[in-house]
Amino acid sequence: MSKRKKLREYWTFLSRAVRRPSTFGAVLPTSRHVAAAVATVVPSFGTPTVLELGPGTGALSSPIQRRLSEGARHLAVEIDPEMVRYLHRTKPWLEVIAGDVTDLRELLDAAGVDRVDAVISSIPWTLLPPDKQRELLEQAVSVLTPGGVFTTVTYLTTLWRPSTREFVSALEDTFDEVLPRTAIWRNVPPARIYACRRPK
Ligand SMILES: C[S@@+](CC[C@H](N)C(=O)[O-])C[C@H]1O[C@@H](n2cnc3c(N)ncnc32)[C@H](O)[C@@H]1O
Repeated sequence: MSKRKKLREYWTFLSRAVRRPSTFGAVLPTSRHVAAAVATVVPSFGTPTVLELGPGTGALSSPIQRRLSEGARHLAVEIDPEMVRYLHRTKPWLEVIAGDVTDLRELLDAAGVDRVDAVISSIPWTLLPPDKQRELLEQAVSVLTPGGVFTTVTYLTTLWRPSTREFVSALEDTFDEVLPRTAIWRNVPPARIYACRRPK
């Protein structure tokens, strides 16, 4: 991506993030270092269906898309109308669904999708109250194939928050395997990825 496009992406993200801090939970899009690590959970063969929750400006979308083979399906549910417009303009190959993850089942039904092989989430989980975290996790799990993977990005700066511990507990209660990856410092703020498999 050219420097000019990058700056435009940052500006689009920042200008929305300052208006809706609790929906964004970050001031900049995820770095390419985190995005590259996240993308590795997506199957690079076959024709999987991949779902992003909260794609923002699509920082994770391009590395994920590069891994996918022909015939794979790549959808993304985004609540912010400005981000939806930005994605339509800049990533026409992405199936963007305007809506709230709370309504995930209905949104996917309308898109003709029954189950997905990978959920990649970067919604700000740790800003949500515990009951909302669990409600949205349930939604995500309900659309996952039994062999599917749920991946999420959390921030090291929020480790001290009780809501982060609540979220990790919710992950452990929901999945048989919860794998935290090593911290990635080249991100603002530094990030940790969780890859979770086998819903209980
Ligand atoms: C931290 S940003 C991540 C953006 C992008 N994936 C990245 O990694 O740079 C969180 C995104 O989640 C979206 N979001 C937050 N809550 C949501 C919800 N309930 N349903 C759909 N999108 C949501 C926000 O609008 C924002 O675009």
